[in-house]
Formats: sequence, structure tokens, C-alpha cells
Amino acid sequence: MSQPKEQKPNNLLEKIVSLAKRRGFIFPGSEIYGGLANSWDYGPLGVQLKKNIKDLWWSKFVERREDVVGIDAAIFMNPKVWEASGHVSEFSDPLVECKKCHQRFREDQIKGLCPDCGGKEFTEAKRFNLMFPVRLGPTEDSSSITYLRGEIAQAMFVNFKNVLDTTRVRLPFGIASQGMAFRNEITPGNFIFRTREFDLMELEYFVHESEWEKWFEYWRGQMREWLQDLGVDLKNIHEVEIPDGERAHYSKRTIDFEYDYPFGQKELYGLAYRTDFDLKNHMEKSGQDLSYTDPETGEKFVPHVVEPTFGLSRSVFVALLEAYHEEGDRVVLKLPPKLAPYKAAVFPLVANKPELVSKAREIYQSLVASRYSPGPIAWDDRGNIGKRYYSQDEIGTPYCVTVDYQTLEDGTVTVRDRDTAKQERIKIIELENFIEEKIKT
Ligand code: GAP
Repeated sequence: MSQPKEQKPNNLLEKIVSLAKRRGFIFPGSEIYGGLANSWDYGPLGVQLKKNIKDLWWSKFVERREDVVGIDAAIFMNPKVWEASGHVSEFSDPLVECKKCHQRFREDQIKGLCPDCGGKEFTEAKRFNLMFPVRLGPTEDSSSITYLRGEIAQAMFVNFKNVLDTTRVRLPFGIASQGMAFRNEITPGNFIFRTREFDLMELEYFVHESEWEKWFEYWRGQMREWLQDLGVDLKNIHEVEIPDGERAHYSKRTIDFEYDYPFGQKELYGLAYRTDFDLKNHMEKSGQDLSYTDPETGEKFVPHVVEPTFGLSRSVFVALLEAYHEEGDRVVLKLPPKLAPYKAAVFPLVANKPELVSKAREIYQSLVASRYSPGPIAWDDRGNIGKRYYSQDEIGTPYCVTVDYQTLEDGTVTVRDRDTAKQERIKIIELENFIEEKIKT
């Protein structure tokens, strides 16, 4: 019998939002109070998916490399950091107001037509700063004001000297970090695509100026490789050169990695050549020496920076969009097994046979506790077996292990593959290695 044809539905965004809510990936924020526009909470499966993506990124770009180290910095920084970095004066979007309905929009996102009322007349564009001011402590004077970080990068620049002084890194090398960033976006929206707080993973790679082009190409290749790790088909990615006048204030060259979202081609990640803009400004404003002396040539210089940046929230979104498939009446999330929230599910064939249930519990517990634990394992004994398979397919569980009557006779179980829906019989003693091997991909 041939497999039903796979297809992506037209209303993919609605389907993802509904699946995310129904199965506990992503919930609307503050829902019991009527919500808070454009805020989202990660549920039990969403937090696991996000963690798996974060861990994979950290493993690839920090733990498995000699030339990159990680940091985890405070979100509140001295406000002078944001003055030196140019964010206080330059980090803004053009804001216009519709003269008819008085709604405000980002000028570059409306194409001359008000998305709310269809009006065609707008006020002159004003620069609207995206940094979130916050007041620290009980005083009310301006000296207590700082900003929630608009990017993590600045933490890497202000700790450049600390890292140099405390580790064995030598140029070229990178500092990486993961965490939240905050921007007072004029027009957030499209599910978790654009929100005012979001998860970010950034890497600042410090190089000699003469080598920036080589490293820029290198990191471009690494970003493509990462996209494939995330399960993204590169035909849905467009590498777009950002022209003069449209780049961030610190960048001399930027390539955006844009993705074909259901609402159009838009930014997923960015790769920027930040020159020595940040280190130089921090040197000037802090009075500290942030230069580097080459131990072999003795040359002293301010390093230049190539920055690959990866929105983690957008990574979760794109991983879901790429993984979502409908095959006949079954919905399958074909996440790369290493990213799937559950690595396997264990079921007794029927729930009313105590000997099957207790054998299945035993297998479930040994997988959960295994020394080579392949990650979270699901347990399900509700409904019939077909429904349980469909339920696991929908959340991307790569393998379903069923304990049946034959198990009690010969110590084997069936293992069903999510993508092919085919089953094979495996000896219980080989199960752990079997799953471990398969989920590496
Ligand atoms: N340090 C460089 C930097 O901040 P950016 O392109 O402004 O560059 C980095 O932002 C990444 O953060 C983007 O490529 C995107 O993935 C993500 N991002 C930016 N704004 C976002 C928002 N409002 N909501 C979710 N993700 C966002």
C-alpha cells in the first residue's frame, strides 16, 4: 500500500498556533486574564524543544570548539554601555501614524496603506527608539535609569578583557552567549516571530582586520550547516545582502538569512561584520585598554568582529514550520530526532492487562533511568494503540515502543518509526542502544 501523500496546508500558521496550544508547546501569555498582546509562554513540550535547540547550538558552537568560549551575563548593564554602543542614539525604527485611525506602524512594513483601516495618509516618519528603559532601585532620578538589553553582544564586548585574561584563547576566537533580549517593537506579531522579549543566541568572533572577509565566509557556511541541523530545507532560505543605509548602525556588511514564512520572506538570522566599532567605542568611553597583542608578532591592535546571530524563538518557530506535515488524516511533526521533546514513548498494548502494564512500566522506567538516557521518554496507556501513535506523531516522538503478548513470551517489543509508520521487533535488551543510535540524527 502506498503512503498517503505528504502536504503542507495553506493555513499552516493557524495550524501551528493551534497545535502549539493544544499539545502544550506554546500558550498565549497571561491567558486567564484575557492575555497580553504578543506575549507567549512555552509549555511542557515547547520548553523541551527550545532547550534541545539551545543545547545543540551550545554543543556545536561552544563545547565542541577550541576557539569559542561561553559567558552568561547580567541583563541589567551600566547605561553607559548602551550609550557607547550607539543603541541609545541609533537603535530605532521609523514610526508613522495613520491620519485616519491614529494607529502607529513601522514605516517600512506598511507599503503606504494602513493595515487597520486602509488609510493612505500618514504623519512624517519619526525615529522610535527600541530600547526598554527601566528604573533600578528606589530612587526616581535619571541616574537610576538603565535599559533591558536589546542584544546580548554588548556583554561579550564588555567582558572581552576578562575572557582574554582568564582563558587561553588567542585570536581568532569567539565568545558566545544565550539569553533573553528585549525590544520595544512598534509592530510585534505573527505568533512568536516578532515579540518584545525573545530568546537569542549570539557569537562574537574576534579577528584581525585583514582576515574579516575569510571569517565572514566561514561563519556563513557554519550558519548554513546549523540550519540543516535544525531540520531546515535550505531551499526555504534566502541569503540577502543588506544594502548601505539599511544595515544596523554598527555594521559594515550584513547578510540576512531570510526564511519563507507563511506570511512571506522575512529575517530568520543575521551575519554582520561589526568592524572594531564596539570595542573601540567601549575603549574610548570606559578608558580601558581593550586591544590585543599578538604573542608571535608583538603587533598591538583592536580586534574586528564577525557576528553570527541566531534568534532562538525564531529557531523554535521555524523548526515547527519545517517539521509540520499532514499525511492523510495524520499530523506528523518530523522534527530531527535529537530535537524532539520526547525521544520515545512506551505503551502496553492494552491498559487492562496488568502483566502487560507492569512489563511496559518496567521498560519505561529502565529507559528513563538508563545511564545512557536518550532523553525524556513518554508513557501512554489511554485509548487504543492507533490513537496513541497519532498522538505521539503530532508532537514529533520519533519512536513508539509497544509491549504486547509476544513480549511476555520472547522478550521482544515492537518499535514503530514516526516517519515511515513501519514497525520492527527488537529485543528489550537492545532497545536502549537502538534508540540511542537513532536519535543522534
Ligand atoms: N547582535 C545582533 C543583533 O541583535 P538583530 O538582527 O537585530 O541583530 C538578532 O537581531 C536576531 O534576533 C534576529 O536575526 C532574529 O532572529 C532575532 N530577533 C530580532 N528581533 C526579534 C523580535 N522582536 N522577536 C523575536 N526575535 C527577534
